[in-house]
Amino acid sequence: MKLFNLTKTTEAGEKNDEGRRGFLQKLGLGALLTSLAGVAYQSFRSLIPNVLYEPDQRFKLGLPANLPEGITFLDDRRLYVFKEGKSFYAISGACTHLGCTVKYAKLAQPRTVEVNGTQATIGFEFHCPCHGSKFTSDGTNYAGPAPRPLHWYRLELSPDDGQLIADLGQEVDQGFRLTV
Ligand code: FES
Repeated sequence: MKLFNLTKTTEAGEKNDEGRRGFLQKLGLGALLTSLAGVAYQSFRSLIPNVLYEPDQRFKLGLPANLPEGITFLDDRRLYVFKEGKSFYAISGACTHLGCTVKYAKLAQPRTVEVNGTQATIGFEFHCPCHGSKFTSDGTNYAGPAPRPLHWYRLELSPDDGQLIADLGQEVDQGFRLTV
């Protein structure tokens, strides 16, 4: 009788061992599948380039008639758009020194400054809050560390709906005007 009990105990122990072995096998298989999935994901991800999506360089500004006379500053594009009657032009708000955003301001009093070796009287200027560069109202640098004038960008009319389009991918010379 004692022997029978011992046999029963041994069988139960073997069953437990089998159960434990099965569990460990499943655990190992799970870990293997997880690591294979990780490797597969990394391989797949390496095929997709890291792309930085930037806003479109060309964008619409609305109908020319709806733009207010004078200056409109597009904060998100850092672009000053000028409307003088039927003429339009656009000057970048990015300082040519290290890229801070310049401010456009009317001077309290007209000031005579030296611009490219000649004296000029100015009533407005762009100034950079970062290191003090100054630019005349056409964007010409005349003081501070900025090495170049502010960029001017092309404006054109959309053939579809007559809206103004600014193109930050196309620089134009100072003095460019779009007349509508
Ligand atoms: S970034 Fe404008 S002066 Fe330095």
